[in-house]
Amino acid sequence: MNLQWYPGHMARAKREMSEKIRQIDVVIELVDSRIPAASRNPLVDEIVSGKPRLLLLNKTDMADPEATAAWKAHFENNGLTVHLVNSQNGQGTSAIAGSVHRLTAARRKRMEEKGFRPHPDRALILGIPNVGKSTLINRLAGKKIAKIADRPGVTTAQQWIKVGKTMELLDTPGILWPKFEDPKTGMLLAATGAIKEELLDFQEIAFFLIKTMLRRYREPLAARYHLSDLPELTGNHDDQDLMIRLLETIGKNRGCLMSGGRVDFDRTAEIIVRDYRSRKLGHLTLELPH
Ligand code: G4P
Repeated sequence: MNLQWYPGHMARAKREMSEKIRQIDVVIELVDSRIPAASRNPLVDEIVSGKPRLLLLNKTDMADPEATAAWKAHFENNGLTVHLVNSQNGQGTSAIAGSVHRLTAARRKRMEEKGFRPHPDRALILGIPNVGKSTLINRLAGKKIAKIADRPGVTTAQQWIKVGKTMELLDTPGILWPKFEDPKTGMLLAATGAIKEELLDFQEIAFFLIKTMLRRYREPLAARYHLSDLPELTGNHDDQDLMIRLLETIGKNRGCLMSGGRVDFDRTAEIIVRDYRSRKLGHLTLELPH
C-alpha cells in the first residue's frame, strides 16, 4: 500500500466503487485468511448494496488451516457463500465462476421470465490493498493484467475478462481502504504487511506476534528461535518485562548483537516480523472468530 487514506480518498473510493457496482451482478470480496476480520472494510455491506456476494479467504497457504476452517464456518453462519483460495498457485479458484453462476440464478430466472436472454454473470473483485486482488484477476484471466495504483481517482479504461463460459470479470478491482481506527486492527494489518513499512514500529509488531504465539503457537516459536523454556503470559503489566526478556533471548540466539555485545532490539524485532511474513514461523492466523 502506497499511501495513507484520508477522508477525501475514502469518499472518492466509495463513489467510484458504487459506480462500478452498478454495472455488475456479483461482488467477489477478497480477504486475507490470516486476518479475515481486519482485512475487511466495515463499509462493504453498504457499498455492495444488496448485490449477491462471494467471500474469498485468500492466501490460505499462509494461514493456519484449522483457523481458516473456523472462519469459513463463521462467515457461512452469517449467510455468506465462502471459498478458500490461494490466488498465487490457483488452488480453489476454478470453483469461483460456478459459484458466481449459482448466485445469479434468481436474476437469470427474472430475465428469462421477462423474455430476455440473460447476459453472462458480471463480477467485480473488491478488497483492501495487498489482499491479492491483482493476483486473482491475473489468475482468472490466465494472463498478466497491469496492476493499478492503490488509490482512488486513477482511472483506466475498463475491460471485461471472460472467465469460463458464464462469467465476465471487470479487469480493475474495487479498492477499499483498510480500517485503521482500532489499534488492534492496525496491528494486524501491519503484521501481515498491508501497511507501508515506514509507518511501522517493528518492536511493537514483534511483541504482538510473540504474544499471539505464546498464547496459540508456542511450539513454532520455541523451535524457530531455539527457546528451551517459554514463559507463560500473566495478563498483567509483568508481560511487558517478560516480552523484553524474550526479545533479548531471541536476539542473542540469532546473533543480533551491537558492538559491546548488547542485543540489537530493533533488528531482532524486524527479523521476527519478516520471519512471520515469509512463513518461517509457520502458518499462523492472527485473529479468530468470536
Ligand atoms: P492487491 O492487488 O490486492 O493489492 O494485491 P496483489 O495481488 O498485488 O498481492 C499482494 C501480494 O500478495 C503479492 O506479493 C502477491 O504475490 C501475494 N499473494 C496474493 N495472493 C496470494 C496467495 O494466495 N498466497 C500467497 N502466499 N501470496 C499471495 P508481493 O510479494 O507483494 O508481490 P510479488 O513479489 O508476488 O509480485
